[in-house]
Amino acid sequence: MFYIDEPWSSEGEGNLRVSVVGMGFVGLTLAVFLASRKIRTIGIETNRSTLDTLRRSQPPFYEKDLEPTLKKVLKSKMLELSDDISDIASTEVTFVCVGTPARADGSMDLAAVTNVAKSIAGMIAKDTERRLVVIKSTVVPTTTDNTIMPILESFSNKKCGKDFDLVVNPEFLREGSAMDDTRKPHLIVMGEAGNSSSKKLRNLYARVYGKQMAKVMITGASTAEMIKYANNSFLATKISFINSIANICKHVPGTDVEQVAEAIGHDPRIGPLFLKAGPGYGGSCFPKDVSALVAFCSKINVDSPLIKATQEVNMRQPYEVTRIVIDRFGGSLEGKKISILGLSFKKDTDDIREAVSLKIIPELLKRGARIRAHDPMATGRVKEIFGDDITYCDSVAGCLDGTDCCVILTEWDEYRKLKPGIFLEHMNTPIVIDARRVLNPQIFEASLEYHAIGRKSKASASR
Ligand code: UDX
Repeated sequence: MFYIDEPWSSEGEGNLRVSVVGMGFVGLTLAVFLASRKIRTIGIETNRSTLDTLRRSQPPFYEKDLEPTLKKVLKSKMLELSDDISDIASTEVTFVCVGTPARADGSMDLAAVTNVAKSIAGMIAKDTERRLVVIKSTVVPTTTDNTIMPILESFSNKKCGKDFDLVVNPEFLREGSAMDDTRKPHLIVMGEAGNSSSKKLRNLYARVYGKQMAKVMITGASTAEMIKYANNSFLATKISFINSIANICKHVPGTDVEQVAEAIGHDPRIGPLFLKAGPGYGGSCFPKDVSALVAFCSKINVDSPLIKATQEVNMRQPYEVTRIVIDRFGGSLEGKKISILGLSFKKDTDDIREAVSLKIIPELLKRGARIRAHDPMATGRVKEIFGDDITYCDSVAGCLDGTDCCVILTEWDEYRKLKPGIFLEHMNTPIVIDARRVLNPQIFEASLEYHAIGRKSKASASR
């Protein structure tokens, strides 16, 4: 394992053509970014409806800056789209960005990756130049060495590290800032499988990043795979840790998790990021990757109590929020009207995968509550799940109208700006449960009944 932080030569990579297989979150962002840096790129997507949407310059999900850049690169033809994987034949570097969804037992479903590997092997069999295959899909350690490499070799009848190269290059981008994160990665990890060389990938990145090139760390393929899981599990653990502290603070008068997090974040050994207590982490990565790591550990007979605890704390955390609501109303929510502000798993995205709203809303409905919901972007997606069981509102004021309790579940900037007046004016009983800690407790406690994660509320203290 070693670091490289000198500039790499991009000579000889001038006309390099690249293919990206899988136009999901990672693949589309990468393809659009490479094309915007004048790399001729082919994006492969076999889902016809996604492909049709993309061809109309519409990303299938919202991401800041993505749509205008997609429009530009399609117009300039630096990005071409296809549903035919054999189109990768005209490219020398192929990025694999297909999904690895979770199975019911939490383990990773590799079907898409293995199918794509077989197709790529078919191309390698005919290749006259040495192709570089880059694995960006998140796969558990040893998958590339023990599954992907053998497929590529056996289906092509060629040798990895001699006839083609295979490199694991994990992705660390976040939804909501995917384009920025892709433009400015904090580190580039390249895990070389077998005797593969990552030189072509380093040269490609040198060309697209120029002076902005991040430090490159070269490892073996399995270490690179482990880095991705360790990275995500560590961040998830930080969140579950601060949520555990929040749950203690909730029962200790005079303590506030926000101040605790701020103070410990000043310790350079801890750092301030990912210490925001809330209703639990969601999204397409943390829940899936932590589950996959737990399943992987159990498969190889390694006990992993810390990772399991991270997962368990997170599974319980949404119910810390529903408990505040249920306790407030003495058990039954029959006939209570509850407004939910925020449905997406975090702000600046319309993604609702593993969003806490999808756990909290059914729990409240089950207890007889009537739900009104608002989100700046995600109501359309939530409607597909709850249909007419809840009411969808275009404005915060409309959502609050006549309700007995309001629960804030996503940290959208527009909720941060809310003043007590809007709750007092529109709600039947102005009770606010701030599961994201977006409001100022001093101001809100002085005006209405305010409850929050990680803080014993004045209202409950006096009850
Ligand atoms: C994450 C990783 O950050 C990224 O590196 C990886 O490539 C993909 O997974 P993402 O899922 O887009 O990115 O969102 P992130 O900003 O990490 O938030 C994940 C979840 O944790 C969200 O539900 C968020 O609300 C929650 N979170 C985050 C907290 O509850 N508290 C925090 O302090 C930070």
